[in-house]
Order: sequence, then structure tokens, then C-alpha cells
Amino acid sequence: MAVKPIELSMAHRLLAGGPVALVATRYRDHINVMAASWFTPISMEPPMVALAVHKGTLTHDYIERSGEFTISLPNLALMEKVRDAGMKSGRDVRDKFAELGLEPVAGEALDTPVVAGCLAYLECSVVEAYDAGEDHTVFFAEVVAASAEQEAFRETWLLEEEEAKPLHHLGGHKYALLEKLLDAAAREEEQE
Ligand SMILES: Cc1cc2nc3c(=O)[nH]c(=O)nc-3n(C[C@H](O)[C@H](O)[C@H](O)COP(=O)(O)O)c2cc1C
Repeated sequence: MAVKPIELSMAHRLLAGGPVALVATRYRDHINVMAASWFTPISMEPPMVALAVHKGTLTHDYIERSGEFTISLPNLALMEKVRDAGMKSGRDVRDKFAELGLEPVAGEALDTPVVAGCLAYLECSVVEAYDAGEDHTVFFAEVVAASAEQEAFRETWLLEEEEAKPLHHLGGHKYALLEKLLDAAAREEEQE
């Protein structure tokens, strides 16, 4: 094996593996949805996430105006819709949810909807925004409600049935599913 330099612009892909999301936003009576993979948990108490959003997106506009967004985690069945949500801007269509055949449903805590048929949901209320250079803003947000399909997630992702696995984005048109759950403690016992 040989370790070779890669272009810095591709470095973020080395960190890929977190699930891809459908991020929904709302401003007054307009709602929008986009694909997102640049987000991460950053605090447990209070529970917080950070989401990097391109400044040119409608999503950016709506988050700035409303101070909230929701994260819906899709499975493989929604892969093509995730791709389309990431290629088309809500600026160019009247109703991106309808255009993509995605259904908005009310969440538990916020006015912004979540996307029906996903495996899990986080509702996020922005506490701070960081200007991350020319292209993105990082929104730091408190998770004010979260829910997940029992078949898919109980304390961790269960990774059993294919349709109960979260979808991951590797870059470009490439996506992935995690293969199986490994338990370090159980494996250690087996090996003793
Ligand atoms: C799989 C995938 C992941 C993406 N992740 C992000 C992201 O984390 N942040 C971002 O700003 N844009 C991301 N994009 C691009 C946006 O989804 C894209 O610019 C979208 O058209 C913006 O829509 P809007 O203008 O309706 O908000 C991603 C696209 C794809 C396909």
C-alpha cells in the first residue's frame, strides 16, 4: 500500500460516511428541501449539530430568515430524490417538494416540516452562524426534537434490513449503505 497526496478539494470525502440528509426549511408559507451531507453532531448537552450550507442556496436564505431547519434521514428508496434535491434549486421551481414527489409532514417541535417516509428526523433551532469563507455558512443549531423508526434505530442504527439502513453519500453520484453492525465488546469476549 502507498499513501499518496490527494487534492485538498477532495479531502472532505475522506470524512464521508455520515448519513446523507434531506434538509427542509420554511419561510412564512414557503417550504423547501435540499440534499445535505456536510453536517455533524458537535455537542451532547445541549444536543447540537453543525450544518454547512452554500450561500447561494434557497435553503441558506430560509435558514437565515427563520432560524430553523429539519434533518430527515432517507433510505435507499429515496436515493434518486436525494440526488434531485441536490441538483435543483428551490429558486428555480415553485414547489420543490411537489416537483420531487416528496411529502412534507409536520414535525414535533418546529413549524418547519420533515420529509415523510424517512428513517429518522432531527428538528434544529439555530443558535449561531459562522461565515466559513466565500462559499458556505456553518449553522450551529440545537436539536429540539428527534425521532427514528424503531425497526431502523434503537440506541444505534441496527443495520438489519436494507430498507432500514440510512443512506450515505460519498461524492458525485456515488452513494453507499453500511454493511453490518459490529460490537467491539462482544467480539473481544468471543476472541478470549
Ligand atoms: C448528496 C448531496 C449532498 C449535498 N450536501 C450539501 C451540503 O451539505 N451543503 C450544501 O450547501 N449543499 C449540499 N448539496 C447541494 C445542494 O443540495 C444543492 O445546491 C441544492 O440544489 C440547493 O437547493 P436549494 O437552492 O433549493 O436550497 C448536496 C447535494 C447532494 C446531491
